[in-house]
Amino acid sequence: MRRILNFGSMNIDNVYTVEHFVRPGETISSLEMEVFPGGKGLNQTVALARAGAEVYHAGKIGKDGRFLLDLLRSAGADISFVETINGYTGKAIIQVEAESGQNCILLYNGANYQMTELFIDEVLGSFSADTILVLQNEINLVEYIIDRASAKGMQIALNPSPIRENLSKCDLSKITWLLLNEIEGKALTGETEPEKIAGALLAKYPDMKVVLTLGGDGVYYCDQNESFRYGVYQTEVVDTTAAGDTFAGYFLACSARGMSPQMAVEEASRASALAISKQGAAVSIPVRIEVLHADLKLRSECVE
Ligand code: RIB
Repeated sequence: MRRILNFGSMNIDNVYTVEHFVRPGETISSLEMEVFPGGKGLNQTVALARAGAEVYHAGKIGKDGRFLLDLLRSAGADISFVETINGYTGKAIIQVEAESGQNCILLYNGANYQMTELFIDEVLGSFSADTILVLQNEINLVEYIIDRASAKGMQIALNPSPIRENLSKCDLSKITWLLLNEIEGKALTGETEPEKIAGALLAKYPDMKVVLTLGGDGVYYCDQNESFRYGVYQTEVVDTTAAGDTFAGYFLACSARGMSPQMAVEEASRASALAISKQGAAVSIPVRIEVLHADLKLRSECVE
């Protein structure tokens, strides 16, 4: 199995359970408030580690975020490339709607935006071409990391979330796996239909493997050799936070293990179904043994 370096964000998630998302000018009381480890980077590292990958996390936190390291360590990730700086750890205010389990997220970037070219060069200097690099878009200098890692010959997986201006500076021809949702797909291609989003990406980047998550409609996978849809598993939706991160981590761990796209999508879909049945981000991500043995059924309207 190839080893994985995830250069990514780490956040302290303040999760408010609400009857409905707060509206402009409105003040409401939440039903509950809990603090969890989060950040798309941290969540994906936890998912990679719980999926059995050898994963190294690189990034930055403030002193207030040291408890995030405990979770990464206990999940089995290597944290020797995490730097603690003066200043605050990234934060997220997350509203979770009690009935639907849907969320909306407000970020404070904090230490996640303190990456420097020197730090990036030092981290990448410890890895060789056979390491897979995983990136999201919650840290600064993503475009620089892509260029430097590609120059070393590393294969790169990018989850371009959240969508920001900087993506126009990222050379997507250097990306092997692009994992995105429909909203991100529309922002990158102008298309709304899954097949058209993937088609537009492959027309520009023929070697890319596009993994498009479609929420309740499952997943669409497409590369130059194959394309398929995969459904979603029946589960109780408690909190959808980190469902996409769980999927990404599991899919990439399976790919690093040499599994086919179809098998990787199946395992990743099972893992994210289990994640959304629990509250919280990283803490809701299951370990591989649970994923392999859970009694899950595809929703009938999704069975191909
Ligand atoms: O993808 C979920 C994550 O997005 C949360 O953990 C939050 O920190 C934000 O980064």
